[in-house]
Amino acid sequence: MTTTPDDVASAPAGVDTVELDAGERLGGDELRALHLKRLQWTLRHAYRNVPHYRRKFDEAGVHPDDCRSLADLAKFPFTTKEDLRQTYPFGMFAVSRERVRRIHASSGTTGKPTVVGYTERDLANWAEVMARSIRAAGGRPGQMVHVAYGYGLFTGGLGAHYGAERLGCTVVPASGGMTARQVRLITDFRPEVVMVTPSYMLTLLDEFERQGIDPRRTSLRVGIFGAEPWTEAMRAEIEERGGIDAVDIYGLSEVMGPGVAQECVETKDGLHIWEDHFYPEVIDPIEGTVLADGESGELVFTSLTKEALPIIRYRTRDLTRLLPGTARPAHRRMAKVTGRSDDMIILRGVNLFPTQIEEMVLGTTGLSPHFQLVLTTRERLDHLTVRVEARADTPAERRPAAAAELADRVKDGVGVSVDVEVTDPETLERSVGKLRRIVDQRENR
Ligand code: DLL
Repeated sequence: MTTTPDDVASAPAGVDTVELDAGERLGGDELRALHLKRLQWTLRHAYRNVPHYRRKFDEAGVHPDDCRSLADLAKFPFTTKEDLRQTYPFGMFAVSRERVRRIHASSGTTGKPTVVGYTERDLANWAEVMARSIRAAGGRPGQMVHVAYGYGLFTGGLGAHYGAERLGCTVVPASGGMTARQVRLITDFRPEVVMVTPSYMLTLLDEFERQGIDPRRTSLRVGIFGAEPWTEAMRAEIEERGGIDAVDIYGLSEVMGPGVAQECVETKDGLHIWEDHFYPEVIDPIEGTVLADGESGELVFTSLTKEALPIIRYRTRDLTRLLPGTARPAHRRMAKVTGRSDDMIILRGVNLFPTQIEEMVLGTTGLSPHFQLVLTTRERLDHLTVRVEARADTPAERRPAAAAELADRVKDGVGVSVDVEVTDPETLERSVGKLRRIVDQRENR
């Protein structure tokens, strides 16, 4: 990227001004004007080229011409994973198959995977928002980026890869797995930046320690962690043990992939949504009504520039709230995701998210961040056991007290009784990609 002094906008203190790109520098009014223009384009493009959207708009009695202001978006129907499944594999594409340069797909643990596609311009835009994200996280051109997100149909690896190249970094496409080798590569190649799920970063930190290497003394300075929910307590754990800045990156395949929103390293106060490409709404997940900024609900996205797969009001199932911009004033932030509505456990009428337990586990002396939530049936009622590893340096005598302390915290904080089982270190399964915290062993499931 060439940057002349004329390009340079004033930016908040702490940001290297030379590096903001044109989209990041947009003012609030400019961004709003761009929103409406791009929204109208997206609605027309979808209506004209995707029969499924045309049918849904017609059924709802709306036409792209009805969108005259941003508020009019609320008249248009939502899109869900089910729409992508019904039109599997390519029925939501708005361009001919020949113009699609790349396909990605969700893992699809249940039923058909959801398939997404990108034109050449989509890939260029994606690389740009990813480059912007890595820079906002503290990465700089010329640095080396170790990418341990999985490569393949998952968007994490390739998304991070092309963004880092676009920024002008040297990329190490490690992908997930082979943990001992990851540690060797980081030690030998000396990257400044690592991009990986927070849960796999914990596994990497353990492996450094196992090999007798102090992870605080590696070349790593910044970790860009996402693809699963993680908490402030986890940030503190990773920053402390790794001696790095840990920042959050968010995205989803249906909307693009990683790089939809990114936390800025200088503020670490939630993730700036790159609103020149993605328009967010937060809705009441039951009523479907649009909530005011600041209120918690389900995040919904409409793409603003996507050609191959324009996505209108996509219900992410992710729970968060919208906040005003800080380090990038025009772009609103989303608070760290609390969880997915699908991951909410309802235990005797009380709603519970794995992130709540994560904070409590990490706040309990002697317990490691490796834990599982095991659901079983006892006397026809759902029961939760938190199975958590002791830290390697925790004496065996301390375990019962740690278990009791955690059970008390859950009882006080959430209002339900759970069992806590403290296991030996290195006994729970490690994830190399997205972590599944919940082990569902309930009857009749
Ligand atoms: O996980 C894209 C991605 C890759 C994001 C690498 C960040 C880093 P999907 O596989 O389609 O795409 O899964 C999307 O993952 O709806 C959230 O539930 C969850 N998710 C992604 N990032 C975060 C995050 C990628 N930072 C789904 N915090 C989303 C919490 C996240 N949840």
